[in-house]
Amino acid sequence: SRLKMFVDEVPEMPTIRGYRVVNGSYEPAALKIGMFRKDWKFHRDLPPTPVFAYGTSKHTATVPGPTIEAMGGVSTHVTWTNHLPPSHILPWDPTIPTAMPVAKKGIPTVVHLHGMIGGPESDGHAHSWFTNGFRETGPTWTTKTYHYPNVQHPGSLWYHDHAMGLTRVNLLAGLIGSYVIRDPKTESKLRLPSGNEFHRRLVIFDRSFLTNGSIYMNSTGNNPDIHPQWQPEYFGDAIIVNGKAWPRMSVRRRKYRFTVINASNARFFRLFFRNGLRLIHVAADSAYLEKPVVATHTLLAPSEIIDFVVDFSDSRSDSVILANDAPYPYPSGDPVNDANSVVMKFNIRKEREYDTWRVPRTLIKYPSPKLSGAARSRYIAMYEYASAADEPTHLYINGRSFEAPVTEKAKVGTSEVWYVINLTEDNHPLHVHLGLFTVMEQTELVNAEEFKECMNKLNDAMRCHVEKYARGKKIRVLPHEKGWKNVYKMMPGFVTKILVRFAYIHSTQPYVFNATAEPGYVYHCHVSFHYTFLSNLVRHWRSRVM
Ligand code: C2O
Repeated sequence: SRLKMFVDEVPEMPTIRGYRVVNGSYEPAALKIGMFRKDWKFHRDLPPTPVFAYGTSKHTATVPGPTIEAMGGVSTHVTWTNHLPPSHILPWDPTIPTAMPVAKKGIPTVVHLHGMIGGPESDGHAHSWFTNGFRETGPTWTTKTYHYPNVQHPGSLWYHDHAMGLTRVNLLAGLIGSYVIRDPKTESKLRLPSGNEFHRRLVIFDRSFLTNGSIYMNSTGNNPDIHPQWQPEYFGDAIIVNGKAWPRMSVRRRKYRFTVINASNARFFRLFFRNGLRLIHVAADSAYLEKPVVATHTLLAPSEIIDFVVDFSDSRSDSVILANDAPYPYPSGDPVNDANSVVMKFNIRKEREYDTWRVPRTLIKYPSPKLSGAARSRYIAMYEYASAADEPTHLYINGRSFEAPVTEKAKVGTSEVWYVINLTEDNHPLHVHLGLFTVMEQTELVNAEEFKECMNKLNDAMRCHVEKYARGKKIRVLPHEKGWKNVYKMMPGFVTKILVRFAYIHSTQPYVFNATAEPGYVYHCHVSFHYTFLSNLVRHWRSRVM
């Protein structure tokens, strides 16, 4: 029997301030946030679900974890602590490269603050993991306390686990949370809906459950002789918003702002209001847009963040469903069904109200991307190695594994043009740590098979003359995706040209960090099952020493 929809009110996650107010001024704060094994109610009629949750104590831990509110220019220090039991609540696969404690006890975890501009020692590198009580640590682990400088422009980030081989199961278990950097001086002028009532953060993901409440994960690998448990993707049928399945929210008949984070492992969402209400995009990922962009639908890859205003006074009905129509896997998988096509429901109060919020004509202007200033260009090819015998095909970036030496040595403060060539069947959301990029264009490859053959032999897009093939149809980059992004959808069979700016800092506060230090940063596909399989679709980039 199916769970009833819209019976739980959407919760507001607890917030933790990442700063202190001392005599009217903002001072850095030191937080301690733990990871706990606890039970979580995802739905009124579902028995409690064993989860891993972030929080200041087991009692207060939530799924998703608390929202950390940081202040622009004021440092937040977080000591992330692991209080997890010796064994995992989900099946994990030891045949893929995985963080492995020597004692074979304890669950390796490490926290990445997605979108943060900061030092590599605080970036949550996959090999910087630690177990309960820091009893064991990974090879690149250096510090218990992470430093988040918060010197970048105001915007939305999120934190999630990033441990080698376990990211996918640690995320599924609940290790995710949201983070926001505020800058009251610039943001209050915008007069966008704000405050806890009118600016809501929605963390969305999909899960399946067994009738006893536990998370269901298909744990038979798609090639069980080699990888008994590993599956390239995870899809669940229940859509969870802030830890509740298909919740409802009562709203007043006026403007609201929603920051939506797609925290799914593999599911894309194409969101829209069933009664045609418009979404007015004001930000994407960690940066504001220059101008608001009106749309009826918005497509979110795993880990993308959208931020929009909706004016419920435009609604002709007294309730509206926020729906999803993205096939899974995206774009050529199954169509959505009755369950996963529904996200949540808004019940709108009848009386119209006087609304003090507005959507300004212009938002925040950042330096515009200049192609002419790019230090160099690179080809980044995602493709499947045809491999020996029955091995599943391996997805790699430029044919190299995670452990291979760093090839992308970018200089902090510079920009580069990347041609990302997706020769796989799926859309891979590319995420660059410490970088922001703008999407210039997407061009379809013609005779892709011929090009692929050459790539299998030479593993070099330049020598295979990618330009000869990149001359098919172009896809228009949508206006609300034209700003500075840290994740973007690499269309299968297309070359996506992006301009990456390494350590894009828009700040009045000068800040120096050592980006050249080990272990460096990564860029990768954010389908977290790809991220952890033979490190496919993960590469390092490290700063060149000047
Ligand atoms: Cu959202 Cu490498 O991470």
